[in-house]
Amino acid sequence: LKALPEGYTCRPIQRQDYHNGFLDVLRVLTTVGDISEEAWNERYTWISTHNDSYFLIAILDNSSRIVGTGALVVERKFIHQLGLVGHIEDIAVAKDQQGKKLGLRIIQALDFVAEKVGCYKTILDCSEANEGFYVKCGFKRAGLEMAHYY
Ligand code: ACO
Repeated sequence: LKALPEGYTCRPIQRQDYHNGFLDVLRVLTTVGDISEEAWNERYTWISTHNDSYFLIAILDNSSRIVGTGALVVERKFIHQLGLVGHIEDIAVAKDQQGKKLGLRIIQALDFVAEKVGCYKTILDCSEANEGFYVKCGFKRAGLEMAHYY
């Protein structure tokens, strides 16, 4: 793995990240809504008690503000001899920090975890506009996403 910019760090998310701009970074991806600290804590507790399946990471800049995030969810299957599949979700880099390879570092970190825990592949869904980014991260187009919204 190559280095982050000087002074930047990468680590799993922490409970106090509610106060470090975690949700604001996700807002570059999509609507997040108003999440109270109590609601955050409840979800954080659930995620941290499933820490063999949910890996959420944050990149912090040199002032400890969160400037990037991403998630790996490990699915446990029966097929492929009880195979594990990694799902990369919710990749976001703050607008003013894009183009510094932070997105690439997030994907490399999640890919590393996926391989380490024994996934035989990692998949993700993205827009056509982001295809080039994921190709640079070593992914290739496979299949077609379908969705049923409720
Ligand atoms: N199309 C083509 N190439 C791209 C794109 C793109 N949209 N974005 C980045 N690249 C290239 C870069 O030029 C760079 O190439 P290089 O190595 O030749 O210089 C390489 O991909 C790595 O780029 P990074 O600097 O790591 O990208 P960045 O840190 O800006 O992160 C990201 C990319 C995550 C897509 C960011 O722009 C972002 O947060 N966008 C808004 C939210 C979003 O769309 N997230 C992805 C949703 S899909 C999902 O979550 C599974």
